[in-house]
Amino acid sequence: MSTKKIITVFGATGAQGGGLAHAILNDANSEFAVRAVTRDVNSDKAKELARLGAEVVSADIDDKESMQRALAGAYGAYFVTFFWAHFSAEKETAEAKNMAAAAKEAGIKHAIWSTLEDVRKFVPLDDDSMPTLHGKYKVPHFDGKGEGDHFFAEAGVPVTYLMASFYWDNMIYFGMGPKKGDDGKFIFTLPMGDKKMAGIAGEDIGKCAYGIFKKGNEFIGKTVGIAGGQLSGYEMASDLSKALNKEVVYNTVTPAQYRGFGFPGADDLGNMFQFYADFEAHCNKTRDLKLSKKLNPDLLSFDAWLAKYAKSIPLD
Ligand SMILES: NC(=O)c1ccc[n+]([C@@H]2O[C@H](COP(=O)([O-])OP(=O)(O)OC[C@H]3O[C@@H](n4cnc5c(N)ncnc54)[C@H](OP(=O)(O)O)[C@@H]3O)[C@@H](O)[C@H]2O)c1
Repeated sequence: MSTKKIITVFGATGAQGGGLAHAILNDANSEFAVRAVTRDVNSDKAKELARLGAEVVSADIDDKESMQRALAGAYGAYFVTFFWAHFSAEKETAEAKNMAAAAKEAGIKHAIWSTLEDVRKFVPLDDDSMPTLHGKYKVPHFDGKGEGDHFFAEAGVPVTYLMASFYWDNMIYFGMGPKKGDDGKFIFTLPMGDKKMAGIAGEDIGKCAYGIFKKGNEFIGKTVGIAGGQLSGYEMASDLSKALNKEVVYNTVTPAQYRGFGFPGADDLGNMFQFYADFEAHCNKTRDLKLSKKLNPDLLSFDAWLAKYAKSIPLD
């Protein structure tokens, strides 16, 4: 029987959990084994994880009993929620509460909770510089997670609070890449002015999480922010131009204009970019490049991410 310590990985077929699962599975000498959680053990991604050596189990983060089963006997757990599947901050907070309770009950020795800032601590709800959304949030997909932090502490779960940055992969999967303008040039739009925003390769989040688990108790009770680079829109456009071999021009709009773009979640993202810009010093200080590199020596810079993925950015 394996003596490896089991880490239950929620979202194991996705960006964050997938990065962690693969980081462990790719390390033949790892002290950890992967219990990969999915809602569909027969999907191609789930089967691939099983082929690589993961124990693949079925659970849903909205079903507390299935979550408890997935955590039974595990040493560690990676907890992530899925805002964009439902757009509900309340749901994320409730999921965090259930995760914390289930982790406590299972006696988890080290949990990583994938969280983000509760922006209302920086921009109070009565501050009109940023519109309040859904009645009680500033950046719903941040606030709901941040509001969930206290459940882990209160339950007495040994937890590391992990804060990711803007995935550069959003240019591939979220329609945020350069768009062809009428004059044939490509336009890269962000409401960031000349402010620098922390970003990261999606695959690096899980690799950093693996680094945190490997450090044992060092990061328990701590908040760890991670990033692979901190770049302005001008710098990103310039790097995109070189990688794509096409002229990419940065188009800076106001957060209000961005919120008005009208796609689902544009208001939430407009507020998020405004937070990244207005609290540039905080966001970049919290998401520390040196620490990220220490946790994950393979950490990709934006240029390195482009060298690997620029060809996957849709350009029409
Ligand atoms: N995009 C960004 O720039 C960014 C930055 C920071 C934080 N985030 C946060 O990252 C979170 C999403 O993480 P991700 O990007 O790793 O997700 P992802 O790549 O979209 O996929 C996550 C996986 O989770 C599983 N899943 C979905 N709903 C589930 C449920 N109810 N129960 C159990 N498993 C479920 C799905 O697997 P199965 O279908 O196999 O079950 C899916 O493959 C969001 O909350 C977002 O706010 C995003």
